[in-house]
Amino acid sequence: MAIIVTGGAGFIGSNFVIDWLSQSDEVIINLDKLTYAGNLHNLEALNSNPNHIFVQGDIGNIKFIDRLLSEYQPRAVVNLAAESHVDRSIHGPEEFIQTNIVGTFRLLESTRSYWSNLDQNKKDEFRFLHVSTDEVYGSLDSDAPGFAEDHQYAPNSPYSASKASSDHLVRAYHHTYGMPVLTTNCSNNYGPYQFPEKLIPLVIYNALAGKDLPIYGNGLQIRDWLHVSDHCSAIRRVLDKGAVGEIYNIGGLNEKTNIYIVNTLCEMLDKTRQRKDGKSYAKQITFVKDREGHDQRYAIDATKIKSELDWSPEYTFEKGIQETLKWYLDNQDWVANVVSGEYQNWIKAQYV
Ligand code: NAD
Ligand code: DAU
Repeated sequence: MAIIVTGGAGFIGSNFVIDWLSQSDEVIINLDKLTYAGNLHNLEALNSNPNHIFVQGDIGNIKFIDRLLSEYQPRAVVNLAAESHVDRSIHGPEEFIQTNIVGTFRLLESTRSYWSNLDQNKKDEFRFLHVSTDEVYGSLDSDAPGFAEDHQYAPNSPYSASKASSDHLVRAYHHTYGMPVLTTNCSNNYGPYQFPEKLIPLVIYNALAGKDLPIYGNGLQIRDWLHVSDHCSAIRRVLDKGAVGEIYNIGGLNEKTNIYIVNTLCEMLDKTRQRKDGKSYAKQITFVKDREGHDQRYAIDATKIKSELDWSPEYTFEKGIQETLKWYLDNQDWVANVVSGEYQNWIKAQYV
């Protein structure tokens, strides 16, 4: 038995692959293009694990995916591969359209052809699980209930529009061809191996490097923070028990403003890594120009996954953020490695 995971060298993907192989002896074929966001160092702990097979490639390359499916005969494809950073999608949407829309379409096409030739038992058991985001639903007012699965789609950035398109394609492949798909839409993840272009690792890195801690606009935007290991357990649960054709929203039950997140990190750093001048890291906070089209609030109503699949997150934000900060402090080599090279060009384009 084997499954194919796409994007398994990225932040969530590498956590998912490591997590999966720590509790299963089923083979994972890890397919990743290794863009700037993909990093094989994330997977070093698996170097001697024969159940991890890494293959560099693009989800948009149909011939390549056809070969992979035919060689490994997986019982499932878990699609995490994507361009994932909202700010980059504002600077340059093209890659987002290519990977998130065209790439997902081609991956679906290849998978459909593989799936339709399986014998009936395998066909029934097969699953295509598509990992998506709460951003497809747009922005919530401060007093509105969280996003449930039937919330209207209203994506506001090129990133979320491209993810919304891919969700619609996945839905259509079930409705039209009967493909056994599952979709998950989750909130902001945090934890080990997150690329320091995203808020939490960026703030930790900048704080220690003595750089500004950039807050877009007034910092009062709200996100619902989900620890990545809770996300991984939710994906496993949906793959295992989810009803074909269904969507499951996954949230961390941790709504926080951005300024709260940054202040919390500063306070924690003040206690563990005091600045040389004895002042607080909060002195480095700088309010900068707001993100264009910035969504004010995301929150998830996770009732369905709890009531139907008996899943809820285990991490409190307090525990998750402590562990995450500790991971970044203990893994400065990993950070130093990913901020060399292309990262510097991005920082110049976005912040300077
Ligand atoms: P990431 O940017 O850290 O990793 C993406 C991975 O996909 C990288 O390893 C990259 O090399 C790979 N990739 C990109 N284009 C590819 C292609 N054409 N073919 C094959 N591989 C390709 O992203 P992440 O934060 O780990 O997000 C993973 C998935 O989860 C994405 O689909 C994202 O939309 C979704 N998601 C992320 C979050 C979050 O908070 N990070 C929240 C909700 C949903
Ligand atoms: O909600 C799920 C989404 O969460 C995922 O689909 C995306 O892939 C993921 O990147 C994330 O999107 P966000 O835009 O919410 O995450 P980001 O870490 O980029 O920003 C979090 C919030 O912090 C957001 O309101 C913008 C703000 N921010 C971000 C950066 C990088 C700042 O104020 N300053 C910054 O420098």
